Amino acid sequence: MSENWNQNMTDELIPGLDKTTDEVAWDLYRKAIRFGTWDPAAIDLSQDKKDFESLDEDLKGYLIHFCTGFLDAEENVALKFCPWIMLGSSTEQQAFLSTQLLEEFKHTEFFMRYFKEVLGRERISGVKNIVQQKLDERAKKMLAALEQGPEEREAALVEGLTHYQGIIEGVQAMTGYDVYEAVFGSKGLLPGLGEAFTRIKQDEGRHVGFGLRMLKLFARKPEHAKRIRELYDEYLPHILIRYDQPVIVDGQEYPTPPEVRGRERLTKMFERRLKDIFGTSVTV
Ligand SMILES: [Fe+2]
Ligand SMILES: [Fe+2]
Repeated sequence: MSENWNQNMTDELIPGLDKTTDEVAWDLYRKAIRFGTWDPAAIDLSQDKKDFESLDEDLKGYLIHFCTGFLDAEENVALKFCPWIMLGSSTEQQAFLSTQLLEEFKHTEFFMRYFKEVLGRERISGVKNIVQQKLDERAKKMLAALEQGPEEREAALVEGLTHYQGIIEGVQAMTGYDVYEAVFGSKGLLPGLGEAFTRIKQDEGRHVGFGLRMLKLFARKPEHAKRIRELYDEYLPHILIRYDQPVIVDGQEYPTPPEVRGRERLTKMFERRLKDIFGTSVTV
């Protein structure tokens, strides 16, 4: 897996604008039905368990913190996702978005298993992720928009897609996959986690591909373009904080491995997403 993986994935997977949104949604729905059939319970974690036991204490602490971030995030997005489906404006769009709901629960299941079978403990409580916490408010706004007119529904969907597909999945999660690769995968460590990330990234390719394509279309309207850009700018400091906060597990602080380079990876991914949506280089 290379550092360029996300770039390549986005290039290939932002579906073309020559098809209608409903055609694209239906294609992605069919892809999810045919190819999104991996089973989180079937991934072999025996080598991961051995690798974890032989890691030094600092890396053990870092991995527990890292996996807590993923489990919290996958679970939170799964639990909050229904309004995104309900705001889909056709059967095709809702069909596709419903596959995303199930997939987020599969990702959650994998990390629940990882804690139980590899890390042998519960996740850490209280790891802050402000962008995730803001999903509560977002979901409420989206539900309220269901009762309003088409313009309000569209505006709520634009904000929801920016927040979830554009920022949480498109920037935060994708940075996490690269961090795994740099710290563990490139050293041949934790192959079960690597296999899960390969599968998760295929699912995320559909989620992010659909979301970014929608945002690219919506950004043609100046009022939506303005709102998308404002949300990205509002959330950038919150996503950067994630990699600046100390790694504390059970009251003890662990160093962040030098390969993580979180700020740098996040900033690059952030710029890439803006380019995907607005088509030009944008300075942060
Ligand atoms: Fe996910
Ligand atoms: Fe996703």
